[in-house]
Amino acid sequence: MTDPVLFTAAATAGTYALVRGYQRLQLSLAKHPSLTGHTRMAKRVAGLIPGYAYDEARFFGSDDAPPEVVARRRAAFADLCAWYAARFERSSALTAQARDAISDLQFTGAYRVPFQYSPYLRQHLRLGSFVRASSGVEVEDLDGNRFHDLTGSYGVNLFGYDFYKSCIAEGSARVEALGPVLGQYHPCVAENVQALRRISGLDEVSFHMSGTEAVMQAVRLARYHTGRTHLVRFPGAYNGWWEDVQPGPGNPLAPRHTYTLRDMHERTLHVLRTRRDIACVLVNPLQALHPNAGAPGDSSLIDSSRRAGVDRGAYARWLRQLRAVCTERGIVLILDEVFVGFRLAPGGAQEYFGVKADLVTYGKTLGGGLPVGVLCGRADLMKRYREDRPADICFARGTFNAPPYVMGAMNVFLQRLDSEPVRSLYDGLDARWSDRLARMNAALQAEGLPVRVAGLSTIWTVLYTEPSRYNWMFQFYLRQQGLGLSWVGSGRLIFSLNYGEAEFGEVVSRFVAAARAMREGGWWHGQSKASNREIRRSVLKEMLARRLGRA
Ligand SMILES: Cc1ncc(COP(=O)(O)O)c(C=O)c1O
Repeated sequence: MTDPVLFTAAATAGTYALVRGYQRLQLSLAKHPSLTGHTRMAKRVAGLIPGYAYDEARFFGSDDAPPEVVARRRAAFADLCAWYAARFERSSALTAQARDAISDLQFTGAYRVPFQYSPYLRQHLRLGSFVRASSGVEVEDLDGNRFHDLTGSYGVNLFGYDFYKSCIAEGSARVEALGPVLGQYHPCVAENVQALRRISGLDEVSFHMSGTEAVMQAVRLARYHTGRTHLVRFPGAYNGWWEDVQPGPGNPLAPRHTYTLRDMHERTLHVLRTRRDIACVLVNPLQALHPNAGAPGDSSLIDSSRRAGVDRGAYARWLRQLRAVCTERGIVLILDEVFVGFRLAPGGAQEYFGVKADLVTYGKTLGGGLPVGVLCGRADLMKRYREDRPADICFARGTFNAPPYVMGAMNVFLQRLDSEPVRSLYDGLDARWSDRLARMNAALQAEGLPVRVAGLSTIWTVLYTEPSRYNWMFQFYLRQQGLGLSWVGSGRLIFSLNYGEAEFGEVVSRFVAAARAMREGGWWHGQSKASNREIRRSVLKEMLARRLGRA
């Protein structure tokens, strides 16, 4: 006869295994089917991709274009290189000289375009990474070339560079008597805190040195207070470069306590409703522009399948669903507004999408031009110690937390944010930028150019309407026309709110001129027969052949 104790133990273990298996399945089902949704696998795949570079023939003819098209490309490229060499002489010379000792320059230089094209391109087309002045909407390089700035300084530049210069100057004057004293606060910190409480609608504030750190602290506090381990994030979302928020490629370690779940999907809600190990959900509202996809950099632009577009109502509904399930399950909802905070509305993404988070991170523009990260949150979640267990603390300090000069510049920024001239910039903001987006697209369409733009307010990305392997070349034509782009190229254009009608009109005409030059150069030649899918498949085959040593 079976021992009843053994039987009960076996039955319990069986039930446990079934429940675990079911939960695992639910988790798998809640992942986005793309590699972006499978971070572990993506990391493994990334490790398998072999390094190789195109020679001259492949550089110009990787799509097997007709010989006359390849010849046009060669001639256009030679012209472009000559033009760059003449126009960017000093900036590119200093860049070449400094490159070997600045790791970041080496990295960004290598990843401006798909890696196969990068060495040949870098050898011939010299770019400058040094600039010396800014004013209005323009930035000037060492050779005196002036660019309409579309880098937005990674999103910091919301109101125009002159605005931040004066925030820094005025802010420095406000704290001058105290100078660089740390560990105690300049009185303006108390004012900043009051303003941030009002803006965020939350109780407490902590200051950090970067957005990455603010997010890190938000996640740590969520884990501390819930006693749970896992963070839920969404595919492709950037929340800083710290390990837990960047599982997969880019991170030397495999993901440990992070679930990357499908954005805007019922199955994710189901996982949140049923698992017990989830401490927080981390949302970067910029994903509204491209849910479940990574930041669109040109280094991965091997075809024309980049997609983007905002459905504000749908994303707002999604955030409200997340809010409801987080409340129901005691999960902390963190809105990471480091990028979009103040850009969409004076009250940030909370105001824009009509959702209330438990913790909100800010950074970038809030420092008035100086580096900062800020976390605002509910009092019970912000507390770093427990009265009943005094040794159990959630430690978070930093030498440069709330330094006087940053706090001074922030003080000016926050006061101006409340002033009439700045408030008025937000009037009709969405309508104005939607209209500008439509005008840009109309201008491109009118000339039959295979390019469009999509955007979330002032954050735009360039889309390509015909399959091509050479879209990444477009960024160099845009620069030639005096449009300043960051290292991610046409993936991200960021406008500041001081772009008036005249400046914007100039951007449109330069953009169209760049697209015309790109087409004339044969990079878009209209005879390509391969679909985006076929292009991807051929690149994959090529990688496989390299991997197997058959190429
Ligand atoms: C949404 C978001 N969170 C966090 C960060 C990290 O901020 P920082 O670069 O200041 O560390 C960024 C930076 O781009 C961001 O866009």
